[in-house]
Amino acid sequence: MRVVIAGGHGKIALRLERLLAGQGDEPVALVRDPGHEADVQAAGARAVLCDLETAGVEEVATALRGAGAVVFAAGAGPGSGAARKDAVDRAGSVLLAEAAERAGVRRFVQISSMGAGQAPRAGTDDVWAAYIKAKTDAEDDLRARDLEWTVLRPGGLTDDPGTGLVTLAAPSLPRGKVTRDDVAAVIVALLGTPDSAGHTLELVEGTTPVAEAVEAAVS
Ligand SMILES: NC(=O)c1ccc[n+]([C@@H]2O[C@H](COP(=O)([O-])OP(=O)(O)OC[C@H]3O[C@@H](n4cnc5c(N)ncnc54)[C@H](OP(=O)(O)O)[C@@H]3O)[C@@H](O)[C@H]2O)c1
Repeated sequence: MRVVIAGGHGKIALRLERLLAGQGDEPVALVRDPGHEADVQAAGARAVLCDLETAGVEEVATALRGAGAVVFAAGAGPGSGAARKDAVDRAGSVLLAEAAERAGVRRFVQISSMGAGQAPRAGTDDVWAAYIKAKTDAEDDLRARDLEWTVLRPGGLTDDPGTGLVTLAAPSLPRGKVTRDDVAAVIVALLGTPDSAGHTLELVEGTTPVAEAVEAAVS
């Protein structure tokens, strides 16, 4: 299956591309910096230049046509302010979802974040509040669309080696951490599980093998 990954040079995205290519899928990485093309190619993906803050819907739809699924793995990242949380984490996802509808790509996995769906805690700093609002608004937009969506809300991400063992469940889990390796493995399992469409799932480290956790979470 061809899987288009927005934010294709991100830390989760590169892991996801390696896993997909390794199992014979065809990952396509949307990147905004030509200097990132070699890295995504080394991960087994085809690179397509696309900046989610400047592209129009038709440009993104053109990149999606013929794909079996799309994954939103972009993010404004640490160090960015409230305006880019809105421009990337919300508007980038909305643009990708609109383009998926236009291109007829129905399967859509969105990387959101634990904390989305709730008002930010009292005393939260403005940038974190803007991030949580952007993720919440992006989720709400996606759920309103005629797409086979899955919203995945990981806890705090680490670069530790993956364990293959997770806790995955409908909201709300206690806050926790999870490795980017394990997030990528869960996304691969979600893409292979059509019944995960329509689910919002939270993800932290745990004791259940990924395939089993996905099966249990959607049954
Ligand atoms: N950090 C955490 O603890 C945490 C927890 C839960 C969820 N998340 C979410 O998990 C997701 C992935 O995390 P990650 O660590 O893999 O992120 P990451 O390494 O920061 O990757 C994000 C990617 O988005 C790309 N991007 C930014 N602006 C873009 C634009 N305008 N157009 C196209 N691409 C753009 C970046 O490209 P450039 O290199 O060109 O900027 C980067 O490759 C994000 O949505 C994040 O919000 C994070």
